[in-house]
Amino acid sequence: MSHIYVTHELPGERIAELGQHCDMACWPGPGPLPPETLRAEVAAADGLVCLLTDRIDAALIDAAPRLRFVSSVSVGLDHVDLAAATARGIPVGHTPGVLVDATADTAFALLLAVARRVAEADAWVRGGHWRPENAWSPDFFLGRDLAGATLGLVGLGAIGRAVARRAAAFGMRVVGWNRSPREVPGVEPLSLAAVLAASDFVSVHVALTPETRGLLDAERLAQMRRGAILINTARGGIVDEAALAEALASGRLGGAGLDVYEREPLPADSPMLSAPNTVLAPHIGSATALTRRRMADLAADNALAALRGERMPHCANPEVYG
Ligand code: GLV
Repeated sequence: MSHIYVTHELPGERIAELGQHCDMACWPGPGPLPPETLRAEVAAADGLVCLLTDRIDAALIDAAPRLRFVSSVSVGLDHVDLAAATARGIPVGHTPGVLVDATADTAFALLLAVARRVAEADAWVRGGHWRPENAWSPDFFLGRDLAGATLGLVGLGAIGRAVARRAAAFGMRVVGWNRSPREVPGVEPLSLAAVLAASDFVSVHVALTPETRGLLDAERLAQMRRGAILINTARGGIVDEAALAEALASGRLGGAGLDVYEREPLPADSPMLSAPNTVLAPHIGSATALTRRRMADLAADNALAALRGERMPHCANPEVYG
């Protein structure tokens, strides 16, 4: 019987069903699976179901001589060395589609929170500052209007398009750039430089790949409008964080809403922690109970197909099937 290792307990029934078709072991926690335990466990595994926090690099794949598939409970696969997996003929599954709305909601929640200073206002009330002498005034906690403002989308995949639909409902003009040009109803297609120059809000929705690493570097951030707000729910590595911190500290950019970082968890000395007008979330883009269950179900479906020697329904390197 095939031996499958699962790196975290997962919600939903399909993962339990998978266990009926193989000998399945799961990291019981507490806390995330240590990399050295993962390395020891994959040595005997025929299949691996993993999270985005597990680093599946070439060395790990080399340490897994029996490995026949990897199924990640994530849409992004920057934690997996796809080339190394492909070279070994190992299909890598992921979970596109099911997290589109939850992630677009998170992007919009951050956008609204920064635009209307929600986190700052909450801290102010809790801090006991809301007193009769400053109860309300016409210039009290002024934020930004969404209606009539321009939202620039960097990436027009499913999540970028879902954010565009939300923006339209808020009366925003939407412009967008995609690496391979793409017609999207309601989105004016522009070059990346033109999107950055035209937008009051910029939201990032490209996958992290060698081509997009550092895409929004100091030069590109400098192309953004003075006072513009940056939202990133994609991957931290797409934005040069040091350059972003500097642009925020100098007031050139007006704020940021971030769910993802170059290093996660965010280090205690990260300049983002003291950046002004910035709302920080701990990589919760897809974090709703329903979405996480759907992601676990898809990951189990990918694993089950691979176990049966069938094509995974959502495979990121279909070239392994010839
Ligand atoms: C979340 O970041 C994912 O890639 O699923």
